[in-house]
Amino acid sequence: MQRTLVLLKPDCVQRRLMGEVISRFEAKGLHVVGMKMLRVTPELSRQHYAEHVEKPFYSGLEEFITAAPVVALAIDGLDVIQVVRDMLGATNGLKAAAGTIRGDFSSSRQMNLVHASDSEESAQRELKLYFRDEELCDYESVMTAFMR
Ligand code: PPS
Repeated sequence: MQRTLVLLKPDCVQRRLMGEVISRFEAKGLHVVGMKMLRVTPELSRQHYAEHVEKPFYSGLEEFITAAPVVALAIDGLDVIQVVRDMLGATNGLKAAAGTIRGDFSSSRQMNLVHASDSEESAQRELKLYFRDEELCDYESVMTAFMR
């Protein structure tokens, strides 16, 4: 089992696509184990996108990600980091394949609806930025408890 951090970005929330995106993850059999709506601060943006802070597009990216609420999700599943990345499609919505979330709903590199961790290391780092340990549910345990 793996855990990944997914962010429904401001464009996803504003376009009322939260349910559509979460439904796709649930239909795939993935487990949402944490979820919260929040406003990303400039400081959190710099931590989250630390590897991009020096890039020319960073100021626009920070302006966008801090402009309106996002929804952070912690998602569990087998090989979930790659599975979610595959479900999102290419970073640039214009180039993302049809059938992927970005391919179906985005035409932009910046407004590409959803962020997801790209490795185990970034998942662990990003999950800590958005969730305290006690905010994450042990989904399997909850199910097991009700089945007894
Ligand atoms: S890079 O440079 O190839 O590592 O960048 P990439 O992995 O394609 O994208 C990383 C995140 O930066 C956002 N991005 C941009 N935002 C605004 N303008 C431009 N030109 C731009 N290029 C990349 C992109 O949406 C990625 O965000 P996340 O949240 O990780 O999907």
